[in-house]
Amino acid sequence: MAARDRVVHLLRQLERAACRCPAHSNTFHQGVGAATCTVRKTDYAFEMASSNIRYGEGVSREIGMDLQNLGARNVCVMTDKNLSRLPPVKTVLESLVTNGVQYKVYDGVRVEPTDTSFKDAISFAKNDSFDVFVAVGGGSVIDTCKAANLYASHPDADFLDFVNAPIGKGKPVTGALKPLIAVPTTAGTGSETTGVAIFDFEPLKAKTGIASRALRPTLGIVDPTHTLSMPERVAANSGFDVLWWVKD
Ligand SMILES: NC(=O)c1ccc[n+]([C@@H]2O[C@H](COP(=O)([O-])OP(=O)(O)OC[C@H]3O[C@@H](n4cnc5c(N)ncnc54)[C@H](O)[C@@H]3O)[C@@H](O)[C@H]2O)c1
Repeated sequence: MAARDRVVHLLRQLERAACRCPAHSNTFHQGVGAATCTVRKTDYAFEMASSNIRYGEGVSREIGMDLQNLGARNVCVMTDKNLSRLPPVKTVLESLVTNGVQYKVYDGVRVEPTDTSFKDAISFAKNDSFDVFVAVGGGSVIDTCKAANLYASHPDADFLDFVNAPIGKGKPVTGALKPLIAVPTTAGTGSETTGVAIFDFEPLKAKTGIASRALRPTLGIVDPTHTLSMPERVAANSGFDVLWWVKD
């Protein structure tokens, strides 16, 4: 057993080495702390900045009402070719019809989007005057819809303006975007909650993205019934995305 003197000496040394500022130390003693406080080199706080999320079986049937509440007159619904034939898109479109909401469908989203596929969706969005965007699909659809909304709201911007540096210029988004409602059909990417749109930049064969709070969907409608039609591999792969977020 260690001698009492050695234990006391060790405790004193620990106390001396510890940060004594009020925020970081529970060994703070009035009057002696300030001089020894050092600036922490690691993160010491985090913020949960997320979209509003509505979760529940069948909640996507309410989307027509949400769009009515937003005063939507011309809605851009984005999805991919595969999903356009499946229940999630059918449910959403039925709700729009029931509530008398006018819409146009873009089903050209590429799975694992690229700069070229983003640009195609952007030009669809620019060629009309949509006042609300709805994305029904996995991360590929939601990310594409975010980009379409961004560039349609900034018609003079060059594509690389908002793309993350060093591939793009990483310019801040200053203008207002239209409301975007995301209806995820996979579980894992969390794209319905984030201000991120990821794509492959073909000229450099590199994955990059656009990151801005402005891209964050106004509302995420998470209806677990949509995952029933998910093929096994998509369920497994998108499930792994959750682990990626946990790691991050
Ligand atoms: N923005 C973000 O925060 C974020 C985070 C992680 C990943 N991502 C991106 O998300 C993309 C991947 O998205 P994903 O994994 O959700 O899949 P996905 O959108 O790429 O879709 C994969 C395939 O599954 C099909 N599918 C999707 N839902 C279905 C359903 N309910 N029933 C039947 N078929 C269905 C699609 O038609 C497609 O063929 C990648 O581009 C990745 O980079 C984005």
